[in-house]
Formats: sequence, C-alpha cells, structure tokens
Amino acid sequence: MAWGMQNRLNRIIQKDGKALFMPIDHGYFQGPTRMLEKPGETVKPLIPYADALMMTRGVLRNCIDPVVEKPIILRVSGGNSVVGEDLSNEEQLTSISEIIRLNVTAVSMSIYVGSKYEHHTLKSFSELVNQCEDYGIPTMAVTAVGREMQKRTARYLGLCSRIAAELGARVVKTYYCEKDFAKVVDGCPVPIVIAGGPKVDTALEVFEFVYDGLQCGAIGVNLGRNIWQHEYPVAVMRAIRGVIHDGLIPKEAQTLFEEVKAVKA
Ligand code: R5P
Repeated sequence: MAWGMQNRLNRIIQKDGKALFMPIDHGYFQGPTRMLEKPGETVKPLIPYADALMMTRGVLRNCIDPVVEKPIILRVSGGNSVVGEDLSNEEQLTSISEIIRLNVTAVSMSIYVGSKYEHHTLKSFSELVNQCEDYGIPTMAVTAVGREMQKRTARYLGLCSRIAAELGARVVKTYYCEKDFAKVVDGCPVPIVIAGGPKVDTALEVFEFVYDGLQCGAIGVNLGRNIWQHEYPVAVMRAIRGVIHDGLIPKEAQTLFEEVKAVKA
C-alpha cells in the first residue's frame, strides 16, 4: 500500500487494529438533530476519547477549532433530506480540492443498495474512490438504509458491505445485527466499523452490541446518537472506549460507566 494511504489509515485505525469514530454529521440530511444543535459544544468533551471525528465541511469550518489534533473523516455526500421524497437520492457534493484543502484524513459517503437510486449512489461512490485514491485518501462507505431500518439483516448488510469493498472502500461502516453478523464481517475484505442507529434504552445495551460486534470481527464503531444523546455522554464514551481498546466486557464497561457518571454528577 502506498505510504500516504497507509499513514492516513494508521491515523484513524489505532495500533491495536481498533477504532472509535465519533460522527456528528447527522445534520447533513436531518438538520439540527437533538443534542447536535450546536455540534461543536456537543463534541468538545468527547474529543479526547475519540480516535477520529466525522462531520461535514460546514460543521468542520464553523464549529471545530483548526487546532484539533484528532483526524477528521469528512462526510462528502448529501443532496437529500428527511422531508424529501427519497433519502437514497444522495451523491458526492464536496470536491477533491476541498477535501485536500481541509486537510482531512479520510472521507465518507453513503451508498443505498437496493434503493431507487442504487446505481446513482454506487457510481458516485466509485468516482469518489477514484479521486481519493490518486491522493492516498481512504474512503469509508456508509451502508445506509434510509428509513427502512428493518432492512438490517446479515444477508442485506453483507451484500452492501461486500459491494462497498469491491468498489474500493478502505473501511466500511455498517449496522450491527444480532443474527449472523460474523458472516457480514467474513464476507467483507476491508475493516468494518458499526454504526449505532437510533438511541437504545440503556447504556448497557450499547456496550453489549459493541462488544458482540467486536467478537464477530468488527474493528470498532462509528457511533453517534447512542453517545451524545445520552444524559452522560462522556461516561458512555469512556466505557465504549474501554470495550474497544481495553478489552472490557459489557459488565465491566457498565461499572466504568457508573464510576465516571458518579464523578460527573
Ligand atoms: C448518519 O446520519 C450518519 O452517517 C452517522 O454518522 C451514522 O448513522 C452513525 O451515527 P449513529 O450512531 O447516530 O447512527
């Protein structure tokens, strides 16, 4: 692998082979998402515990101090909205020159396999890969399901993840599914990080699915709402970090969560 590509991948995936990405890109189609009304303020206490931050250029420019030391994964796609006709109508919107100008470490965009705009998103993602490979910039494909959360089966996620890797993604972000998630990972020749989706009821549930995802071979997470929509985001983040980088089991993560929460309370 070329030096630049390897160096950038090493910046986002840590020496232990694991990764904790913190996404705050939800506004690109959801607008001012709950607890992300002021993304810079929301993410500030979480930055020390993240391996990389994921956001759009608008949030990066306006809400993040350029002295930030953490690598940035830039969301470069959009063109859709929650009130629009079809969420899958998305494409690359940020140019390669802007990607380089912002000095980001990696980029990401969504693909919508099986949707009305499947071909459109897969083609746009492939064009992004072509541009980024020229400069040694890794691409992370996001296997999006839009509003159809029931699509999250191993068969579907495995299909999307494999297609993303075949098109040139260096990392794939997909959802965790309880049944046969190992098959999703096994069928994908590049590292997989798992997204959280809408907030679940308890922090323990998050620690459990992150732990289970890692046991199945995922290298980490790109997890947003289940962290920053929680009442104690730093405690959740530190406990997830413990699962990913320190080998904590869910019960131990829960103990760490309670300890951090007690200090912060
Ligand atoms: C979607 O809005 C973005 O791609 C998010 O980065 C992704 O869904 C991960 O965030 P969450 O854990 O909140 O689903």
